[in-house]
Amino acid sequence: MCKKQLIALLSGIFLCVSVKAQATIAVEKCMICHGKPELKRVDAAGKVHYLFVNLKVLKASVHAKKVCTDCHADVTVIPHTQKPKRVNCQRCHYKGNPQGAPQIDKYMEYEKSVHAQEVRKGNPKAPVCQDCHGNHDVRKTKDPLSHVFKNNVPETCGRCHMEEYAQYRHSIHGTALLDKGIMDAPSCTDCHGEHLILRHTNPQSPTYATRIVKTCAHCHEAVNIVGKYGINVEQVETYERSFHGIAVKFGEKTVANCASCHGVHNILPPEDPHSTVYIKNIPKTCGKPNCHPGANINFARGKIHVNPEKKSAGIIYWIALFFKILTASVLLGLIIHIAMDLYRRTQEYQQKKKEFKEMEE
Ligand code: HEC
Ligand code: HEC
Ligand code: HEC
Ligand code: HEC
Ligand code: HEC
Ligand code: HEC
Ligand code: HEC
Ligand code: HEC
Repeated sequence: MCKKQLIALLSGIFLCVSVKAQATIAVEKCMICHGKPELKRVDAAGKVHYLFVNLKVLKASVHAKKVCTDCHADVTVIPHTQKPKRVNCQRCHYKGNPQGAPQIDKYMEYEKSVHAQEVRKGNPKAPVCQDCHGNHDVRKTKDPLSHVFKNNVPETCGRCHMEEYAQYRHSIHGTALLDKGIMDAPSCTDCHGEHLILRHTNPQSPTYATRIVKTCAHCHEAVNIVGKYGINVEQVETYERSFHGIAVKFGEKTVANCASCHGVHNILPPEDPHSTVYIKNIPKTCGKPNCHPGANINFARGKIHVNPEKKSAGIIYWIALFFKILTASVLLGLIIHIAMDLYRRTQEYQQKKKEFKEMEE
């Protein structure tokens, strides 16, 4: 067979295929090329992209029953001449879809997130669905192999947010979750939300200055969450009763919230020398230029989270007790005073009445 004939034959096959392609192209057809481990393309920057597709991975995913063109819908002829566009997962994942994709509103919130806003602005670095969920290996959330399974979330987000990831990884929360397997410890999404991630400067965000307390309190107020690990659950209450806590309730954003003292991604137990609330670091933490400039070691002497009702609060307990007794005795004195006064007045009145009567007689 000569070369010309071969080309004619091949294009004949491809023609056939391209006619059939109006509907879907069989997986096997794509695999003729994409089943070859050596298939690759080199981009303008010289970077090599391997184009081998492992069918086993797809078959083990939630999309096992889908064919290539269900997602790569713009590949309608083979060989395909143009580089296929990025997959749009929302072709199927929308409310009321006939494809059988789960009908839940939750992921629709992505549209309002900072990520979707950035995508709409044309930021090529901002994530679409597959940047968090994976490509051919999308799995159910509860599957430990899913990119969005709780333990894998930090790494999934960390691919793009490396600085935050690096800090978090060494924090008490990061080591608790990733090294000790404490599922009660937060991953990124426990503080930021899952699909509805907003900028921390957005007042709706759970990381907005005046809302952080509530975000930490969700776990740190709960005996059944942090109480289990021997951590004091009074921290939230003592904070809320403090000057800082009261000011924050009035919407004051510049006053210290949990994160101002403890840090955010780098939170460590107070006895760790790297903690922002380690005794020697307190002057620096409290002494930030916009907080208490010039704070010295004396600043650190008193306890910060104090429950004045407990003897462990030291001098504060005794002062509180003194004031309680003082207030009570002042009140008691006042009541006795009023009672005695009333008694005297009634006595006087009775006396006067008697005198009047006597005078009338
Ligand atoms: C004749 C071989 C061949 C067949 C058949 C084929 N492809 Fe490709 N495909 C390629 C080559 C070669 C590239 C790289 C193109 C380039 O350099 O941009 C590619 C690129 C792609 C890409 C883009 C990957 C990337 O990031 O650059 C996708 C997606 C893709 N193919 C999907 C499919 C699907 C789906 C089918 C079946 C409907 C299919 N291909 C059938 C050869 C083939
Ligand atoms: C559930 C949807 C889905 C299905 C089904 C699917 N893909 Fe993909 N594929 C993706 C996503 C998402 C990407 C990542 C690139 C992007 O964002 O579009 C991708 C990437 C690719 C790439 C680029 C190389 C890579 O691995 O990143 C090739 C080639 C490809 N797909 C071919 C195929 C072939 C062949 C099939 C059928 C066997 C298939 N795809 C089935 C969603 C899918
Ligand atoms: C052709 C339609 C279609 C496309 C395109 C599609 N999906 Fe799906 N997806 C489905 C269907 C159907 C299911 C339900 C599968 C099942 O339960 O057996 C599903 C299930 C899922 C689930 C599991 C939900 C759960 O908890 O049960 C996730 C996560 C998911 N898809 C994400 C994606 C992502 C990310 C993309 C883009 C890369 C995508 N899907 C593209 C149809 C689609
Ligand atoms: C910034 C990362 C991120 C992006 C982008 C993202 N997701 Fe998710 N998604 C998650 C995380 C994390 C979870 C796990 C939620 C949990 O633990 O309950 C999740 C869960 C899901 C679930 C399962 C919901 C459930 O309750 O079982 C579906 C379905 C889903 N996402 C679809 C999508 C779709 C469709 C898109 C694109 C419109 C998308 N996601 C974009 C991170 C993301
Ligand atoms: C314990 C709660 C918590 C956890 C866990 C957490 N964050 Fe944050 N994150 C916050 C708070 C609060 C802010 C706002 C900080 C501020 O006000 O400066 C923030 C800010 C951010 C910012 C914006 C930083 C800036 O200055 O622009 C990014 C990005 C971010 N976090 C990503 C992540 C990632 C990725 C992870 C997981 C590896 C993560 N966060 C884990 C609470 C958390
Ligand atoms: C594909 C990369 C990518 C992934 C994956 C990703 N992000 Fe982002 N994220 C971005 C980009 C880009 C921005 C916009 C940055 C900017 O403009 O400052 C952003 C913005 C943010 C912001 C707002 C920062 C601020 O100014 O307060 C937060 C918070 C955030 N991401 C958290 C997360 C979390 C949590 C995850 C994982 C569930 C995640 N991101 C996954 C790329 C990504
Ligand atoms: C999803 C639940 C959760 C959230 C949200 C959370 N934490 Fe935690 N935190 C924990 C758990 C669980 C531990 C215990 C880890 C261990 O013992 O290894 C912990 C430990 C700590 C510790 C160390 C206590 C000690 O003495 O060892 C500090 C400090 C702390 N968290 C502060 C915060 C602050 C501040 C926030 C908000 C910015 C926050 N946490 C948000 C669950 C949470
Ligand atoms: C003004 C600074 C400041 C603020 C605001 C603050 N803390 Fe603390 N926190 C400290 C210091 C200092 C310690 C070390 C021990 C002490 O003084 O009680 C500490 C200790 C802790 C501990 C460790 C308790 C233990 O049992 O080991 C936790 C947990 C904690 N704080 C959580 C929080 C939470 C949650 C908030 C917000 C509701 C918060 N903190 C607000 C300074 C602060």
